[in-house]
Amino acid sequence: MQFILFVGANNTLAAEEVSVQIKKATQIYPNIYRFEMDSIDEAKKIADRLGCSIKLAVLLDGIHPDAKSVSKEIKAKNFSLTLLGKQENTNKLHQEVKDSLERGRFVIPKDEFGVSPVINKKHKIDEFFMDLDNDQVWQTIWVHNFQHWIRKDRHMPHIDPHAGMLPPKIARSMVNLVPLTPEGKTLVDPFCGSGRVLVEAAEIGYKIAGVDIIANQAQDTVENLAALNFSGKIEVLDATHLSDKFSNIDAIVTEPFLGKSKFRPDEIRYIVPGLEKLYLGCLKDWLRVLKPGGYVVMVFPWFNDGKKVYKTSEIIDGKLNLSYNHVKRGIFYSRPEADVKREIVVLQKK
Ligand SMILES: C[S@@+](CC[C@H](N)C(=O)[O-])C[C@H]1O[C@@H](n2cnc3c(N)ncnc32)[C@H](O)[C@@H]1O
Repeated sequence: MQFILFVGANNTLAAEEVSVQIKKATQIYPNIYRFEMDSIDEAKKIADRLGCSIKLAVLLDGIHPDAKSVSKEIKAKNFSLTLLGKQENTNKLHQEVKDSLERGRFVIPKDEFGVSPVINKKHKIDEFFMDLDNDQVWQTIWVHNFQHWIRKDRHMPHIDPHAGMLPPKIARSMVNLVPLTPEGKTLVDPFCGSGRVLVEAAEIGYKIAGVDIIANQAQDTVENLAALNFSGKIEVLDATHLSDKFSNIDAIVTEPFLGKSKFRPDEIRYIVPGLEKLYLGCLKDWLRVLKPGGYVVMVFPWFNDGKKVYKTSEIIDGKLNLSYNHVKRGIFYSRPEADVKREIVVLQKK
C-alpha cells in the first residue's frame, strides 16, 4: 500500500529521521514523503513513532481526483479537499463535491497540509488530497496526538523554559536517529536535565538511564518520568565519568551543556575551548560505556562571533576518528535567527 506522510518543518532533522526509520521513503514535496508499507496498521505505527510526523494519508486505489469519484468516498458529515502539495483555492472543487453529495459540510483547508490536526479530530473530517498530475486521491487516516505532545511540552511536573529544554518532538526525532529497534536496548542521556530525551526514548520502548551533574535536575528527570509511569536508573554524576556507573549501553542520546544561556560575542572565543574539552572528555569516557557498534547522537553548538564560526563538532575530526565512525553530520534543528546553531551528529563506536 502507498502512503504519504506530512512532517513538521524542522530543517534537516525531519528528513534524517524519516530516512532512518522508513525504508525507501521519497520526498515528493517540501515536508511530504511517500512510502510503501504492507498494512495501514504498520504505517500508523511508524507515524506514531516519529517525532516529525503530523499527518498520514493512504492512496485510494482506483479513485480519480474528480468531484464524482471523491464524493462517493465521503462517509462523515464533514469533508475537506486539498490539492496535494499546492496552496491553490479549492472553493469551486468543494462546491462541486458538495453538489454531487447533496449533503454534508465542507471545511476549507488551511494550507497544502490540509486542515489542522486539531480541526480534523474535533470535526471528524473525511479529508482528501487530490493529485491531478498523477490522477490519484489520498485520504487522511491518522493525525498526530497533539494533546499528548502539548502535555509533554507544557504540563509535566518540572518545566523550566529558561533551561533550554528540548521540544519533545525534537527529542523524539533525535532518539529516532539511532538505527536500532528499541526493545531490550538501553539508552542513556548523560546530560539528562529534566528528562526530555529519556521520556521520548521510554515511550518508544527503550530501557532508559540518565545522569546530570546537578542533583535537582536528576530529581526532575525522575519525577517527569514517573508522571508518565516510566522509570530508570538516574544518578547524579559528571557526564565525563559515566563509565564509573554504566557499561554495555546500546545508545547515548543527548543535548549536552551548551554553555551559559546569555553571553557577549567577545566571550565566545573563551567559552568554546571549555565546551570542547567537556565534549572530548565525554566522548573518550563513553567508549568504555558503549557496546561495540553502539551509537551516540549528540548536539554540538556552533557559535558565531561575527569574525568566525566556531563549530564544536570539529573535535571529532581528531584522534577520536580512530574510535568512532561518523554516521551522520550536519543535521540542524535550530531556527536561523537563533544565537547558537545546533548541529546533531551521529557516531558509532567502532
Ligand atoms: C542543555 S541541558 C539538557 C536539557 C535536556 N535535554 C532537557 O531538555 O531537559 C544540559 C544539562 O546538563 C547538565 N550538566 C552540565 N554539565 C554537566 C556535566 N559535566 N555532566 C553532567 N551534566 C551536566 C546541566 O545541569 C543541565 O541539566
